[in-house]
Amino acid sequence: MVFKEGKIVDSFSVKGKGGEKIQVIFRYLKKGDVKACLKMVNSIRSEAECLGQRRMETLKTERDWLKKQLEDIRKKKAVDVLVEAGGKLVGDASIHPYNYESGAHVGTFGIMLKEEFTGIGIGTRLGKKILELAKKETTYKIIESGHFSKNRRSAKLHKRLGFTKCGLLPNGSLLKNGGYDGTVWLYKQIKKL
Ligand SMILES: CC(C)(COP(=O)(O)OP(=O)(O)OC[C@H]1O[C@@H](n2cnc3c(N)ncnc32)[C@H](O)[C@@H]1OP(=O)(O)O)[C@@H](O)C(=O)NCCC(=O)NCCS
Repeated sequence: MVFKEGKIVDSFSVKGKGGEKIQVIFRYLKKGDVKACLKMVNSIRSEAECLGQRRMETLKTERDWLKKQLEDIRKKKAVDVLVEAGGKLVGDASIHPYNYESGAHVGTFGIMLKEEFTGIGIGTRLGKKILELAKKETTYKIIESGHFSKNRRSAKLHKRLGFTKCGLLPNGSLLKNGGYDGTVWLYKQIKKL
């Protein structure tokens, strides 16, 4: 078993938007993360425009999510990496089960960072790490993902990570202002079928 709660999987420093040095840690989830994860996810969902999930989590829903995530990780059906900067949680990337039983070999990619920590290279390094771990520590062979058409940062990130675009659902994404945007679908094969 390679997974260990709280294990550090990467550690490095980056230059922040104001030129300051930021120490960054990528690490696995642990049971005690519920409150810190709740704070992080709700704050990112409040500020980000282009995320699929919008609801605010509660202590209960976040506890349930964390329990399920740890179970899936142990079954080799998920990987989840948290981002710590200056001792606080500022982001997360995961590969988790796809919606359908017929897609048992397909994992879904998700990634989010607090706005303050975007655009300084963390997302690219995090995306590479989660794909590397998905290959080693899950049974998935294909990773699927999606982003709003207007999310240029996410489009660049997916391209850089080697994802291939496989579709566009016109007006598939509802914007916070009530308008619509397209949904771009992508995939990356990580193992032989
Ligand atoms: C999408 C996201 C994960 C990308 O991570 P990031 O750390 O910001 O991205 P990086 O700094 O590693 O850069 C990725 C690419 O986007 C480019 N980029 C960064 N900021 C950008 C901006 N504001 N506008 C356009 N491109 C931008 C980078 O130059 C890089 O492109 P390159 O390959 O040409 O160098 C991050 O911005 C994020 O969490 N955003 C909010 C939530 C979200 O949209 N999640 C994705 C849902 S699908």
